[in-house]
Amino acid sequence: MSFITTQPKVMITGASDGIGLETARQYVAEGARVLLVSRGIEKLRTATQSLGDSVEVAAVDLTDRAAIESFLSSLDARGYTPDVLVNNAGQGLSGSFAESDWSQVASMLELNMVAVVRLTHWVAGRMKIAGRGAIVNVSAAVATRPIPWFAAYAASKAFVTNLSQALDYELKPHGVSVSVIHPPAVRTSFADQGKADLRSTLVLKLFPTVSAATVARAVRSAARRGRRFVIIGPVAAIVMGTAPIMPRALDLPFMSMLFKARGAARGNNPPRPSRSTQSPRYC
Ligand SMILES: NC(=O)c1ccc[n+]([C@@H]2O[C@H](COP(=O)([O-])OP(=O)(O)OC[C@H]3O[C@@H](n4cnc5c(N)ncnc54)[C@H](OP(=O)(O)O)[C@@H]3O)[C@@H](O)[C@H]2O)c1
Repeated sequence: MSFITTQPKVMITGASDGIGLETARQYVAEGARVLLVSRGIEKLRTATQSLGDSVEVAAVDLTDRAAIESFLSSLDARGYTPDVLVNNAGQGLSGSFAESDWSQVASMLELNMVAVVRLTHWVAGRMKIAGRGAIVNVSAAVATRPIPWFAAYAASKAFVTNLSQALDYELKPHGVSVSVIHPPAVRTSFADQGKADLRSTLVLKLFPTVSAATVARAVRSAARRGRRFVIIGPVAAIVMGTAPIMPRALDLPFMSMLFKARGAARGNNPPRPSRSTQSPRYC
């Protein structure tokens, strides 16, 4: 079964940078019309300059539910339904969960989970009626493991992985595939300070990374072939393959060692509260 027409319309979230931008480049090179979605209009404009005339851009903050609804309404008003939707936009947040800023955690969960479900729901109904289409959700190799110091991010990707597989089973008989992609660490700015902030962790020092181009090729191949579950490279294969058989008593300290920030990096070793705030005061 083929899920892509010869001149597909492809919508990619998080397309102004990293994996999303590289995926857009590759789709444009194969003749697709691409709609790039992310927040920063200047970054999107720069991307348009390098990608040529067959791209459109939409500046949408996908953590904002009202903005998403307004964006989807505008697409409906034009009668636009993509042949391929790549839910790629995602944020990481590392460090001590208890000490993290709630607004950052909430924003990450909105982007990594709620926006993915909303866009998938919007497009799935339309693709089902059309009898064809491909949805590709970018998860992560950590999706099948509990990861101390990266806990909420890994759990958000577990959500994406499970959702995608179940929806693929529901929709495949109607000509619609839902693929989920599991990259290991990728050479983008995702891990930088102010973003996922993983640069000082052992996981980035010890294990090889893959390029955004490799992930983009996997995204396109998954959409073309309707592949349900994609693991990229040997590191991701080991991380995901050993997850079910590792005793948690060993796995949690091992993952903690890999993902805990070293040295002066933010988050994992925050200052302890002062004595005056350690004990609750009852009035
Ligand atoms: N890089 C890795 O090591 C790695 C590994 C496994 C999985 N992944 C997953 O791969 C995906 C892409 O990661 P990447 O490495 O390409 O990240 P990246 O280089 O940081 O790019 C993220 C993209 O998402 C957009 N974005 C961020 N917040 C947004 C929001 N609220 N609304 C709309 N767009 C938003 C960014 O543009 P604006 O800031 O302008 O909005 C940018 O285009 C993510 O889902 C990530 O979890 C990455």
